[in-house]
Amino acid sequence: MKFSNLFAAAVAAFGLVRSGCSQIVKHRPSEGAGVSYSINVPKNTSVTGSGPIFLQLQAPPGVKWFALGQGSQMTDGNLFIVYAASRHNVTLSTRRATGHVQPLYDPSIEAYLLDGSGIHDGVMTANIRCDNCTTLANGESALGNSSSWMWALTHGPPMMSSNVSQLLYQHDWHGTFTLNTTWAVGGNNTNPFVVPMATMHELSAYTHQQQVSDTILHKKRIAHGVMTSVAFVLLFPNFALLLYIVPSRRTVAWIHAPLQLFAVLLALAGFGVGVSVSKDLQEIGGYHPVIGYVAVGGVVLIQPVLGIMQHLHFRKTGTSSLYGVSHRYLGRFFAALGVINGGVGFHYATAKNPDIPPASPIAYGIICGSMFIIYVSVIFWRRSKSASKTARFSLPFFRRRQEKAPIAKLENNSDSTLCGSGVVETSREKSWVP
Ligand SMILES: *[C@@H]1O[C@H](CO)[C@@H](O)[C@H](O)[C@H]1NC(C)=O
Ligand SMILES: *[C@@H]1O[C@H](CO)[C@@H](O)[C@H](O)[C@H]1NC(C)=O
Ligand SMILES: *[C@@H]1O[C@H](CO)[C@@H](O)[C@H](O)[C@H]1NC(C)=O
Ligand SMILES: *[C@@H]1O[C@H](CO)[C@@H](O)[C@H](O)[C@H]1NC(C)=O
Ligand SMILES: *[C@@H]1O[C@H](CO)[C@@H](O)[C@H](O)[C@H]1NC(C)=O
Ligand SMILES: *[C@@H]1O[C@H](CO)[C@@H](O)[C@H](O)[C@H]1NC(C)=O
Ligand SMILES: *[C@@H]1O[C@H](CO)[C@@H](O)[C@H](O)[C@H]1NC(C)=O
Repeated sequence: MKFSNLFAAAVAAFGLVRSGCSQIVKHRPSEGAGVSYSINVPKNTSVTGSGPIFLQLQAPPGVKWFALGQGSQMTDGNLFIVYAASRHNVTLSTRRATGHVQPLYDPSIEAYLLDGSGIHDGVMTANIRCDNCTTLANGESALGNSSSWMWALTHGPPMMSSNVSQLLYQHDWHGTFTLNTTWAVGGNNTNPFVVPMATMHELSAYTHQQQVSDTILHKKRIAHGVMTSVAFVLLFPNFALLLYIVPSRRTVAWIHAPLQLFAVLLALAGFGVGVSVSKDLQEIGGYHPVIGYVAVGGVVLIQPVLGIMQHLHFRKTGTSSLYGVSHRYLGRFFAALGVINGGVGFHYATAKNPDIPPASPIAYGIICGSMFIIYVSVIFWRRSKSASKTARFSLPFFRRRQEKAPIAKLENNSDSTLCGSGVVETSREKSWVP
């Protein structure tokens, strides 16, 4: 790989220096407003797999707080959060995330500020030695070939707090990067950041990085939630009900199909935004995304095909078919799946973002419940209406036969109404069916 080659060249050039000196790897995220994160692993720590490591966090003026974390998820390892304590000092708050609540101050992380820490010309510097930061929460080594780290920052005026439990609000930007920490090995357990620059060299190299603006992410999450819930909770069921409410020969082709197509496009757009959000959150394999793939896949790929097949069948024969029945039941299934997945989504959203008002899942539940009641009522209303019409029109002599056949047929047809075929009256007025 390019980096390795580059590094090999660098090592060749600095080979002699490297053996005696601290090696520092520095990462400066391009969206990090000039914030930089440096890592050094002393030789002994690298050899034995435990011992101190050295970190340097540096931020220009205008940064309220910034953080470096071990691992690629909040729950993976230690977090080092730095903010201004006073005009000249910084606070180091070591935290651990348990679950998805705001990470709490954890004094058991043995990390200390070293010489050179402080605020000089507005630049915050924290030189840190951590004595037990070589393993992640899952027991794996935090160092090595592809060691994952994450960072976050918030812009704003200096915090001016020496309270290590200071409440911090959502960050503005966050990201992850992966380093080969063998590039950072060197030194003899002394603070490498106060050694004169000439005797160490810094490499800016990472093998993989991701950067996410939390402001944009927040907007994407809202857009995703609104688009998919409007499509699944309101549009799909209501546009299906139109077949019951507006029983006309034109309903399917002129009203039901175009409106459902619009709903499908909205669901698809919401899905696209959701995929982008799940990439930002690194949640691609979670329940919510997987159920989402099924529900959206169903309404985008299966439902239109079944609907069109039933419509063609109906134009030929005037009857319902397996296409129609599947279209109706799968439609209900996919819509219900999408609605339930919306609830699952709220669970995710509130877990990862405490800003979401607790009333919104409740409102969602109420809207879903109301929609369900409306849906069921309309279907029963239409069925009872059809049934009473049938009863009125059938002659006593034929009642026995007709009571079975036409009702079965009507039910089929009201079934097929949902499936985009015909409408309730169609079976009795075949004249306009070609
Ligand atoms: C550690 O290395 C630094 C230079 O890298 C040197 O100044 C210092 O004396 C060394 N300390 C020990 C204990 O070897
Ligand atoms: C703040 O920094 C000054 C030196 O700049 C130091 O004397 C003082 O002890 C520091 N205060 C704290 C609380 O760390
Ligand atoms: C660091 O050590 C303390 C005790 O020495 C322990 O309670 C804590 O869990 C350790 N932290 C890590 C990250 O290993
Ligand atoms: C990490 O760096 C070491 C030292 O240069 C190198 O030998 C190794 O191949 C690198 N590993 C990866 C996965 O890049
Ligand atoms: C480094 O990566 C190589 C393969 O690229 C692997 O064989 C080796 O075990 C890794 N070393 C460490 C310390 O992870
Ligand atoms: C530190 O901040 C936390 C959270 O805001 C607060 O509960 C606590 O009382 C503060 N401690 C001090 C000493 O101010
Ligand atoms: C490194 O470890 C060895 C023993 O494993 C010890 O003798 C030596 O003093 C250590 N070096 C430093 C700089 O801590």
